[in-house]
Amino acid sequence: MADSVRLVEVAPRDGLQNETRQVATADKIALVDRLSRTGLRSIEATSFVSPRWVPQLADAAAVMAGIERAPGIAYPVLVPNEQGYRRARAAGATEVAVFTAASEAFNRANIHAGIDESIERFRPVLALAAADGVRVRGYVSTVLGCPYQGEVPIADVVRVAGRLHALGCYEVSLGDTIGVGTPGKARAMLRAVAQEVPVQALAVHFHDTYGQALANILACLEAGVRVVDAAVAGTGGCPYAKGASGNVASEDVVYMLHGMGMDTGIDLGALAATGRWLAALLGRDTGSRAGKALGPA
Ligand code: HMG
Ligand code: MG
Repeated sequence: MADSVRLVEVAPRDGLQNETRQVATADKIALVDRLSRTGLRSIEATSFVSPRWVPQLADAAAVMAGIERAPGIAYPVLVPNEQGYRRARAAGATEVAVFTAASEAFNRANIHAGIDESIERFRPVLALAAADGVRVRGYVSTVLGCPYQGEVPIADVVRVAGRLHALGCYEVSLGDTIGVGTPGKARAMLRAVAQEVPVQALAVHFHDTYGQALANILACLEAGVRVVDAAVAGTGGCPYAKGASGNVASEDVVYMLHGMGMDTGIDLGALAATGRWLAALLGRDTGSRAGKALGPA
């Protein structure tokens, strides 16, 4: 059997959260439904954060109500606290993702809480989720650098990732929020975290500010990771991380993986078409090199 990688498609959440022009709810639903037909198995559908802080995703419940949930596909949603979890459940979510950071300063800007306090907020979420049979993913942001603090010690990443895993997150996604990492550092960070959390329970989440994301992913694949977050058309960015650019484009990741003989279960043509459709909707060129090359001349 070919070595396989699971992509976690984050365009409907990370890809859209930074868009200043309001995207229509029907278009968000259409995006998720299109992605559901590409062979993806994990699609982060939206986010139940405070609509005051991320107005673009204020329609999270309507998105959840409108999407067609295909069997075998997980539709995780971001939740920052118990209130977000309860809203997500009321909207029918069966998988959620909590998020914190390896940097205190970034966490305070992003979720108005220090690392310890954010983890205390997650405790009731994990307890409710366990009782409800809901799977919880965990994110650690700023794993290779912070827009406020600068360098982030690897030991801090290891500690926070370990705490999320110990709390009950089935998977911990390591986020290079501002895309400053390079392959040697990415590999060293991944290897250090894998001493604390089994590599099978780790995912990587690279933003592509300096064009290093694919190289970083390759370095982490070589270190054993088999779950990769990405966003079609290279959309994305965190509104509270100055200088953060788009996520690595899903189409580019899939092109690389298939070229390496790795299985993703994804139809690259359908994925690339979805990326071009999204870019057109947002009024720009696709940020995916593969998506562009595969498109009409
Ligand atoms: P706060 O204002 O500090 O907290 O927000 P609060 O708990 O005092 O609540 C204030 C108000 O917000 C109250 O309403 C609450 O009811 C409401 P009011 O009484 O003023 O009318 N509230 C909520 N409303 C709806 N849903 C909720 C919720 N919680 C509180 N869940 C909070 C704290 C965390 C909520 C806020 O700071 C927030 O929503 N931040 C979101 C930031 C965000 O979404 N950032 C982007 C996602 S993270 C990311 O992109 C990184 C990632 O991609 C990985 C990577 O790249 O590294 C994951
Ligand atoms: Mg992100």
